[in-house]
Formats: sequence, C-alpha cells, structure tokens
Amino acid sequence: MASSKHILLIIGGGIAAYKASELIRLIKKSGMTVRCVLTESGAQFVTPMTLAALSENEVHTTLWSLKDEAEMGHIQLSREADLVVVCPATANLLAKMAGGVADDLATTLLLATDTRVLAVPAMNVRMWEHPATQRNIEQLTNDGIFVMPPGMGDMACGEYGAGRLPEPETIMTEIHRLTASSDASHDQSELGSNPLDGQPAFAPDQHRPLHGKHVLVTAGPTREPIDPVRYIANRSSGRQGFAIAAAAADAGARVTLIAGPVHLPTPAGVMRIDIETAVEMETAVHEALPADIAVMVAAVADWRADTTSGQKIKKKGAAPAPLKLTENPDILAGLATHDNRPELLIGFAAETENIVEHATAKLGRKACDWIVANDVSGDVMGGAENSVHIITREGAEIWERLPKPEVARRLVKKIAEEI
Ligand code: CTP
Repeated sequence: MASSKHILLIIGGGIAAYKASELIRLIKKSGMTVRCVLTESGAQFVTPMTLAALSENEVHTTLWSLKDEAEMGHIQLSREADLVVVCPATANLLAKMAGGVADDLATTLLLATDTRVLAVPAMNVRMWEHPATQRNIEQLTNDGIFVMPPGMGDMACGEYGAGRLPEPETIMTEIHRLTASSDASHDQSELGSNPLDGQPAFAPDQHRPLHGKHVLVTAGPTREPIDPVRYIANRSSGRQGFAIAAAAADAGARVTLIAGPVHLPTPAGVMRIDIETAVEMETAVHEALPADIAVMVAAVADWRADTTSGQKIKKKGAAPAPLKLTENPDILAGLATHDNRPELLIGFAAETENIVEHATAKLGRKACDWIVANDVSGDVMGGAENSVHIITREGAEIWERLPKPEVARRLVKKIAEEI
C-alpha cells in the first residue's frame, strides 16, 4: 500500500516555496510520510516551523548539525526515502544538481542519493528559457532525474510564460506514479509505469532495464499547411506515442519525444521537441541521433501541399481551387538506411484490413526490425485503447484490446528483453 511510502522533500528558495505546504498536506493525506529539507534561501520564503508542523517531522536545514549526524547521517536521510522530491527546484538548484555541486545539505543529499529524484522547476520565464537552464535540464534528464515540465501562466514577477510551478495535485500524481512499485500487481510492477493512467512504475530498487539507452519516439499527427489558415492533418491524438515515451523513461532510458501538435502533457523525465510538419519531424529525428532504439509512432502525413499560399486562398467564383500534393519524406524508411541507424528500429502501421499481411509487407518495405500494427478500423485513432499485432522477422503476436499505457508497458518490456 502507498501508506508505507516515504518522501524526502527538498524545498528551494523561490516564491513557489509556499506551495510546498500544500504539497506536504496532499502527501500526508495520501497516507505517505514526508520529511523536509529546507535550503538557506528556501527559509526566506517558508519557515522550518510551518514545515515541521505540517509534516509532523523534524525539518533539516544544515549540513553541520552534530545532532543529525549522530542520529541520522545526511546520506541516510536520502537513502531512507522512496522518492526525493525537489520542489520548487530553482534555476540555481538545478544548475548545482547538473554540475554535481554539493555545498549545502540539499545538494549533498542529492549527490549522495541512490533513490529516484523528481525535480519540479519553478522560476521566471526568462530564467527557464535561458540556454544554461535548458542545458542543465537536458543534463539532469540524461542523468536519470525526472524533471517535470513547468506550467504556463502569469508569474509572481508580473511576466507571462513557462516557469510556473505545476499545481500541487499534478505534482502529487507524479509522486504516486514514481513511488508505485512493489505493492502493484506482479504483472504491472514488472512492466513499468505510465503517467497517462498513473499505473505503477519500475520500482526504485528494481533494475531499470533501459538505463544508459537513448530512446527516440515520434508521436502525434503532422500538420501540413495549405495557406495561413488551412492545413492537412489526421486524427492521431499522440496518446500511444506519449505512453511509450513515458514507459521508456520509467525503464531508465533517456527519452527524446518528437511530437506533432497534440494536447498532452510531457511525461516527466522526457525531453520533448514540438514540430508541425513531416519535414520538421524528419529534421528533428536526424538531429536527435544517435539513438539506441527508435519507436516511430507518429501518424506522419503522407502528402503535403505542393505549394503553400502566403495569403488565405479565396473562393473566387464557382470552381474550388485545385490542391496539388507532393509526397513527404518517409522518416522511418530514411532512418533504416541512415549511417546512424538505431540498433532497434520499430515502426507502427495504421491498417484497416488484412492487418498482418499489410504490416509484414511494411516491415520489409521500410527495413525496420518490428512493426506494431494498429487496427484503426474502429475508434483507435484518438481513443484510449489499442489492439495491436507485433510483427517481427520471427512472426506475429497479437495483443488484444488493451489500454494504450498497457500496450506501452508491454512494448517497453519487450524492447528491454531484446536489447
Ligand atoms: N512513417 C514515416 N514517415 C512517413 C510516413 C510514415 O516515418 N512519411 C512511419 C510512421 O511513423 C509509422 C510507419 O511509417 O511508423 C507506417 O506508417 P503508415 O502510415 O501506416 O504507413 P505508410 O507508409 O503511410 O503506408 P500506407 O499509408 O500505404 O499504409
């Protein structure tokens, strides 16, 4: 049960520190215990007294407390936790984490811990967008730290943009996901987690089978402009691709997710690159190489308008304007012959009939290693469930109708076995 879980909450020095109080309340309410570490600058925003009262635990502020070292060494403090949560993670704290700096209690704990770490950034939009911060986020993601994407909105400083602390309820969902483990059903704990359904993760103490691997995932539709107001697109929601990216991150991989226009949150621990068109997706895929594994889930538009009009095309009398199309690059097939071809290249196939036959032909035509064939004759595109055939050179297996996060977990498990 979740009641046995213990959270170590590190509170950095930013205006969002006051929201840590609400987070502590939610953690306690869910039956977990929480112990707080307050940085020196964090103490400018919240007091140890408040945190102690809410957490019903002693609050730790300094590396140089003889009492703590006698009773509980600082390494022990982080090791006894099921999850370390850094909230708010300021630009300064993230920079120190990325650089391996250990000059106070919080950063020393973070360097010493062997537990999963969830960083929840909150800062001014310019600080968030600064190349130095983005470089640090990339480094931390590569190091296996789960970094939540910040929210958009008005900032305390009066500016607008990305950098707001996500809502405490959203942070709590990530905490549940990252701590869910041994108490899950055997099946799921083996398979890993997914933020889209809050199901169990690979346990912190469990071998994370894709650690050290770079997984590239494409997801969602592409959008091909006709003129400034019209475009060609398809019904893909991106849910299956996002679920696979999340499951791969849970399995310890460094994940790059190249996403078409979709309305989905970025899973923690995933580096997301947003694109619109197939050509942009192809460029982003090539820039993300090398990768050990690529899972090409995106529903790439086969065609784009041969020419795009800079102005809105007008009706001009009776006859509709002809739309001349040109073929988009096949990103999957291009990757199969690329100098930096991933060791395991997986394509998806959207089929409405003769699924195995068409998907097997696609496997050969696109020179990939596996094809995951979707039966899209029903409500799969945009829906919550998927029914897939996995086609490999050894043959085909069928996974009957399953929630998309479950398909993702199984696929990641199969990838981990293969790699
Ligand atoms: N794909 C791609 N680039 C394209 C078209 C498709 O990378 N221009 C990838 C998809 O991401 C998927 C696989 O190829 O992994 C198969 O996509 P699908 O749409 O099923 O196949 P098509 O090549 O479009 O074939 P058809 O439309 O004839 O079924």
